Amino acid sequence: MMLKSMEVLNRFKLSGKLNIILLIITLIVIGVNGLILSQVLQKNAEREVTSQAALLIETMGSVRDYTSSQVNPELAPRLETEDRFLPQAIPGYSAREVFENLRKREQYNNFFYKEATLNPTNLRDKADRFEARVVEQFRKQPALKELSGFRSFPGTDIFYVARPIAVSEKSCLRCHSTPEAAPKSQLVTYGRDNGFNWKLNEIVGAKIVSVPSSKILTDARRLQILVIGILTVGFLIALIVLNLFLRFSIIKPIMNMASWSKEVSTGNMHTEFEHPVKDEIGTLASSVNRLKVSLGMAMKMIDPHQPNER
Ligand code: HEC
Repeated sequence: MMLKSMEVLNRFKLSGKLNIILLIITLIVIGVNGLILSQVLQKNAEREVTSQAALLIETMGSVRDYTSSQVNPELAPRLETEDRFLPQAIPGYSAREVFENLRKREQYNNFFYKEATLNPTNLRDKADRFEARVVEQFRKQPALKELSGFRSFPGTDIFYVARPIAVSEKSCLRCHSTPEAAPKSQLVTYGRDNGFNWKLNEIVGAKIVSVPSSKILTDARRLQILVIGILTVGFLIALIVLNLFLRFSIIKPIMNMASWSKEVSTGNMHTEFEHPVKDEIGTLASSVNRLKVSLGMAMKMIDPHQPNER
């Protein structure tokens, strides 16, 4: 294989060979680089969206905790007496509201938070088909603590992180078991049909944070194209410089030497090959000059009428 390719290579002139070799190296380097780079950048982009999503889901968890430990106890008595339900007492509601405020800022308006629930009290929390599958997966595998992945929407790609919501405390059942047990104001606001019949420790839904991933992935791809572009330009410059070098330092002197030798061989012994550069070609030049002198002397010995130059 190697021998065969050397044979093919030997059919070309020096510059042809150099260019073929350089081209092969360029293709290999750029190919390998492209592959490694795309892996690394993809991983980095994924890590970035994952950490964004993880931070947000933790924050929403904290908002929920704050509401159940500090706001709910303050408002609980009023839930019994007032006609209107005070959703501010509900952790899911406060998390949702805080997130909606965040989304009002332009850089976050493609972020989403949802407490996707199979049988929700507030129908805006109803799990869509995709989310329902996520919740079902948590229900089937109670040990599973988190799911994440990419999901496509028309116009954008998002990365989601989901964690299960379980009916962790008995106190939840007050409002989520039967309409009879729930505060009257809750029934007035949400009706009797939704958000009931939950069981203790049952996984009823999932907190899902979605962050847009298209931009991060596009940025990664752009960076990759930039790096490969720079590499390609670098190799092109190397190709041009090496070709120029080859032409002026090697090919031109060799061609000159060839036409000079041809002249000497036709009997013109008066010239000397000029190549003042002290490289290998310079060494070759002084050797051929000496060769020419010896040749002249040898010819003189054979035929004394030859003009003896140098
Ligand atoms: C005082 C009544 C009450 C209690 C106690 C309560 N919830 Fe709720 N819960 C509600 C209401 C009302 C909503 C709808 C709020 C809204 O409009 O977003 C809700 C919403 C939710 C949601 C969002 C999905 C949906 O149903 O709309 C989840 C999940 C949830 N609650 C879980 C729990 C858990 C877990 C507990 C116990 C730790 C609990 N709730 C305790 C009344 C209650």
